[in-house]
Amino acid sequence: MALLSILKYPDPRLNTVAEPVTEVNQEIRQLVKDMAETMYAAPGVGLAATQVDVHKQVIVIDVSEAKDELLVLINPEILESSGEAECEEGCLSVPGVFDRVVRSENVRVSALDDNGNRFQFDARGVRAVCVQHEMDHLKGIVFVEYLSRLKQERIARKMRKAERLAL
Ligand code: NI
Repeated sequence: MALLSILKYPDPRLNTVAEPVTEVNQEIRQLVKDMAETMYAAPGVGLAATQVDVHKQVIVIDVSEAKDELLVLINPEILESSGEAECEEGCLSVPGVFDRVVRSENVRVSALDDNGNRFQFDARGVRAVCVQHEMDHLKGIVFVEYLSRLKQERIARKMRKAERLAL
């Protein structure tokens, strides 16, 4: 296992659209393991492959308190969505920035697991928000891109400055 480095906003690679996984093989399972380890170490509740500069449709999520409910989503699709919920979000690619985004309150998701088997589940609340946030990463969208242009410019400036200080 290995910790992967996470791209930071406004890195343009975060705007890459991920390709579907054609075969869930050993390489993909290794990616899933490394992504899970990276997410737990950060610590975070979700990570999309886009954020570690791998442009394949792979997501790991764990919103549980005990951090023992890893959810692996490969080639995820939202089948149905309903309701509206506004939630304060953060992102491992935009550390220290939190802001409110409106999303669907309930989603029905279909995805492959890390054995390549398709499964479906219903998510609501934080888990639904997290699924939508991570699926956005696969489309090349970072949550701050839903905020006003002024806020985005301010965040980009702050991130660039932090990067310079980190050397
Ligand atoms: Ni994120």
